[in-house]
Amino acid sequence: MPLLELCDVSRIYKTGQVSVTALKNVNLTVDKGEFISIMGPSGSGKSTLLNIIGCLDRPSTGTYLFSGNHVEKLGDGKLADIRNRFIGFVFQSFHLLADLDAQGNVELPLIYRGMGRKERQKKAIAALEAVGLSDRRRHRPSQLSGGEQQRVAIARALVGEPAMILADEPTGALDSVSGQVVMSIFQRLNREQGMTIIQVTHAKEIAHHAQRVIYLRDGEVEREEKLPQPLVAEVESLKAK
Ligand SMILES: Nc1ncnc2c1ncn2[C@@H]1O[C@H](COP(=O)(O)OP(=O)(O)OP(=O)(O)O)[C@@H](O)[C@H]1O
Ligand SMILES: [Mg+2]
Repeated sequence: MPLLELCDVSRIYKTGQVSVTALKNVNLTVDKGEFISIMGPSGSGKSTLLNIIGCLDRPSTGTYLFSGNHVEKLGDGKLADIRNRFIGFVFQSFHLLADLDAQGNVELPLIYRGMGRKERQKKAIAALEAVGLSDRRRHRPSQLSGGEQQRVAIARALVGEPAMILADEPTGALDSVSGQVVMSIFQRLNREQGMTIIQVTHAKEIAHHAQRVIYLRDGEVEREEKLPQPLVAEVESLKAK
């Protein structure tokens, strides 16, 4: 069973007299363990698609199966439940709380789940270690570089052991070196833990870290590209030796 399956998904925004078709009959199937990039011009519907996949929004028409369950008809409370339990989000502008230090930010999703303090702290420390930020636990966002803030945001996305990570232009606000660090973290999560990752990006060199690229145009899937995975093959052949 695929992790997610969108069938003929459309999303129409109605604002006053004007209606905008942001997505039109999108069909997309994603298996567990895939790393996917979504590309396309500004306004082509990338964020709209990611928001529907992430249960932040619902299709206007069409169906969305997540782990075999229909989510398009669920109410706000149930959607929030799915988000909190199964989905880790990473945004271009980090969305960290300024008043909390790195560890406090990473603990937040666990607080929403009602987890006790000791367990929360242990998990947050491990998640920060996984992104190489053990020594920045007590720093607030204003005391961290952009790249470090994004790594805290990734730790926050990971700490609840989600079924997938969704990232909307995760490197859009970063210099190229910090962007590469974020990509190497995604690569490692995908390869070593089989984490499913779907990212939106404008940059080809970022998109090409994935195994598959979906190109959107005017709300429609224009084409798909499967990317060769020379690095994976290389690592596997080294292991075999
Ligand atoms: N909340 C909203 N209300 C009305 N129209 C919206 C809303 N959100 C997006 N749109 C419209 O839907 C279309 C797709 O928007 P979307 O944000 O998905 O594009 P995008 O591909 O993510 O663009 P960008 O690369 O600029 O982030 C655009 O024409 C946009 O104006
Ligand atoms: Mg967008």
